[in-house]
Amino acid sequence: MSKRLDQQVAIVTGAGSGIGRETALLFAAEGASVVAGDYNLEAAQETVDLIGQIEGAPKAAAFKVNVANAADAEGLTEFTIKTFGKLDILVNNAGVGVPGTVLTTSEEDWDRIMAVNVKGIFQCSRFAIPKMQEFGGGAIVNVSSIAAIVAVVDRAAYGASKGAVLALTKAMAADHIKDNIRVNCICPGTVDTPWVGRMVATYADPEEARRKMVARQPIGRLGKPEEMAEAILYLASPAANFATGSALVLDGGFTAFKLPS
Ligand SMILES: NC(=O)c1ccc[n+]([C@@H]2O[C@H](COP(=O)([O-])OP(=O)(O)OC[C@H]3O[C@@H](n4cnc5c(N)ncnc54)[C@H](O)[C@@H]3O)[C@@H](O)[C@H]2O)c1
Repeated sequence: MSKRLDQQVAIVTGAGSGIGRETALLFAAEGASVVAGDYNLEAAQETVDLIGQIEGAPKAAAFKVNVANAADAEGLTEFTIKTFGKLDILVNNAGVGVPGTVLTTSEEDWDRIMAVNVKGIFQCSRFAIPKMQEFGGGAIVNVSSIAAIVAVVDRAAYGASKGAVLALTKAMAADHIKDNIRVNCICPGTVDTPWVGRMVATYADPEEARRKMVARQPIGRLGKPEEMAEAILYLASPAANFATGSALVLDGGFTAFKLPS
């Protein structure tokens, strides 16, 4: 049976952990050559080593990148072309978040969240898109959040950044539809990644914090990073050739309805 990303070359940012790692693994299992980009090179290399254990997967490579930095982002695309000869797919997944309201968020945290979550997509895309144009097209998948759709208490900067990701996705889709480049995003609800593990660990009673988090989910559990990877794969693959400028919400019903209590 042919694989869903046969002969494709993909960059996944933030591929050293969570959603990015699962996406890189699934892409490789589906036939793509993957560049695992991450600020944490060791973690990206671990992802590449895991890909090496998948039978029949093409070669993968790790690259150290701070997505917010222009020279790093340019290097990421250059490395991909040099290593695999072309670029078909860019997954802008790297992201950071810090709790805070407008009153409690420091200017430094505001700038860092915007730099990684929003400017990072700008930087990686502005070097990747010319290569996709050169090769006749491509697909970009950005990772937004349900925080772009409903306010999450104590996440002012994070919500603002993910709202910008949603708007930027549509803007990029409009600007590059004539280049045969599709641009979509996913909006995950709470997904059980190391990020969430770090967050619950900051509470006095982490187990209770996790129980409350699960209790807030209409579907009765957190999302799995593998489920996000499947959605990213769909949007990146030819199966989604009619989708551009769209936002796929994967949140166990969180933004869709309220169950009677
Ligand atoms: N986990 C959730 O509940 C959830 C929900 C909605 C959206 N998201 C989004 O999904 C994406 C991935 O989240 P996750 O939960 O897998 O997080 P994670 O913390 O497990 O992984 C994030 C990865 O990004 C890397 N990274 C951070 N800053 C970077 C930078 N400047 N340059 C390059 N790499 C960088 C980290 O080193 C890490 O490997 C993020 O954009 C996040 O906002 C997560």
